Amino acid sequence: MSGSVKQQLFAPIVEIDRFADGLYRFALNAPFVAQHCAPGQFVNVKVAHENYPLLRRPLSIHDSDGIRRIDLVFRVVGEGTAILAERRVGDELDLIGPLGSPFRIIKDKRALLAGGGVGIPPIHFLFREIQRRELPHFVICGMRNKDEAALAGAIPYETEHYELCTDDGSLGRKGLAIDPLIEQLNAVDPASVAVYCCGPEPMLRAVIRLCNERGVECQVSFEQQMACGFGACIGCSIETKKGYQRVCTEGPVFSASDFE
Ligand code: FES
Repeated sequence: MSGSVKQQLFAPIVEIDRFADGLYRFALNAPFVAQHCAPGQFVNVKVAHENYPLLRRPLSIHDSDGIRRIDLVFRVVGEGTAILAERRVGDELDLIGPLGSPFRIIKDKRALLAGGGVGIPPIHFLFREIQRRELPHFVICGMRNKDEAALAGAIPYETEHYELCTDDGSLGRKGLAIDPLIEQLNAVDPASVAVYCCGPEPMLRAVIRLCNERGVECQVSFEQQMACGFGACIGCSIETKKGYQRVCTEGPVFSASDFE
């Protein structure tokens, strides 16, 4: 898998799963993306056949079989994703990808993965890769309630080293994903682990602070509104210690040490 190539292509939808209110998983037949994507990367999807809405929507990759199939998970949050949710099996999606810089897997450190809400898909894809490489790991997924359990995908079936958290306690532990992450970090030498995180910005900021304070190596994946998706419009820039960086190009995965 590589993070350096992209294509615009038309990918037929082969399966749709509406697994919770407003949450969808689309499986696409997209061999080029499946063969070239890496965990943390995304595709930029044109939501409508017409030219409105104009902007594409960045959707992170939940899974890839490495051959032809990719899974995308998204939540309906506005007009664009609502239009996308009306697509049916057999429709073709106009997409560009794979885009963005992937997670860098640190081979000699135990991986602590933490995903929150629709930040779980890239963490799920990263888990599959870490599992494939048989690297030591622990995965934490935080979601609203048990109806969203499918966000965690294969994790509960393919490892014993995980914890699910829900806001309402209807599945797993009641509370936020950062609580078990703190417990995991309390139990280890900070130099022996690497944290990988994707979720809402308050979660990312809390994890960045936690890991920077403890000297833990950490990568975080930001979600941002995007226009072009490949570095041309600077509309997705965020402030880092190195100056403004484009989430779509220098990111979406950044080192926590790039932030205060
Ligand atoms: Fe255009 Fe990032 S979305 S530069």
